[in-house]
Amino acid sequence: MTEKPGRSCKECHTLSDGKECGQAILKISDSAPHIKVLFIGDVIGKPGRWALSQIMPYLERERPFDFSICNVENAAGGFGLTEEIASTIFSYGVNCFTSGNHLWDRKESHNYLAREENLLRPANYPPAVPGFGSKVFTLESGRKIGVLNLQGRVYMQPLDCPFTVARKEVELLRKETNIIIVDFHAEATSEKQAMGWYLDGQVSAVIGTHTHVQSADEKILPGGTAFITDAGMTGPHESVIGMEKEVALYRFLTGLHKRFPVAEGDVKFCGAMVTVNSLSGKATNIERLRIDLPMRR
Ligand SMILES: [Fe+2]
Ligand SMILES: [Fe+2]
Repeated sequence: MTEKPGRSCKECHTLSDGKECGQAILKISDSAPHIKVLFIGDVIGKPGRWALSQIMPYLERERPFDFSICNVENAAGGFGLTEEIASTIFSYGVNCFTSGNHLWDRKESHNYLAREENLLRPANYPPAVPGFGSKVFTLESGRKIGVLNLQGRVYMQPLDCPFTVARKEVELLRKETNIIIVDFHAEATSEKQAMGWYLDGQVSAVIGTHTHVQSADEKILPGGTAFITDAGMTGPHESVIGMEKEVALYRFLTGLHKRFPVAEGDVKFCGAMVTVNSLSGKATNIERLRIDLPMRR
């Protein structure tokens, strides 16, 4: 808003002397419609998919959202994703898939992964890896939302620097929209917190995935970026990060390999709901979601 010299701003009643009145802009921005983005933490196998099928209709009815993102790297038997399972999860109302290191565990679905436009893989994998690291989606309202997937390097594969790639990708996305959600798939809490600070003010949210354990540190950073170290796991919590605890114990106690079956008990839906000002792209709220499903499949 530009005021004529010597006139006071209608919004804040200060003389703006012909310059932009920051307070008025802030007020207009505050009253802009808000967009709610549902983020769903790593979905683990059949129990995780069942949790989604139960909770998505409930959230759509009771806690309406404008866009949903789901990390699907463990959706097929705990490892990877198949085309059939992807179409099932899309049918629950999920708009965008993000992923991570387990995405390619099923060789038979590599062709599908390469062509699915609503599936993202971490943007800092080598360029020869098929798939897309970011995408801009258009909401029903016409507003655009960018989603970026990155993977950490601490205790993980030595990929390209996620910070450098983040800066480059965010610059490109911001040419189209200032509403940007980042899934940072990383092991180390420190690396995830550092990414939150690095992108603060540049994106709407930085949400961590991969550890399968939800952190209780959701916050809005000073620049307006919502942050949580890990969104947690949608799947069986009577487990070791989603897998049968007996097998995990066998592997730790013997050092021997044994195939990991997905566990079944104590299924929970974990994620976060982020509220974003549609004009400024800044987050105004982040709510951690952790919902028990009382009955097993
Ligand atoms: Fe995972
Ligand atoms: Fe992972």
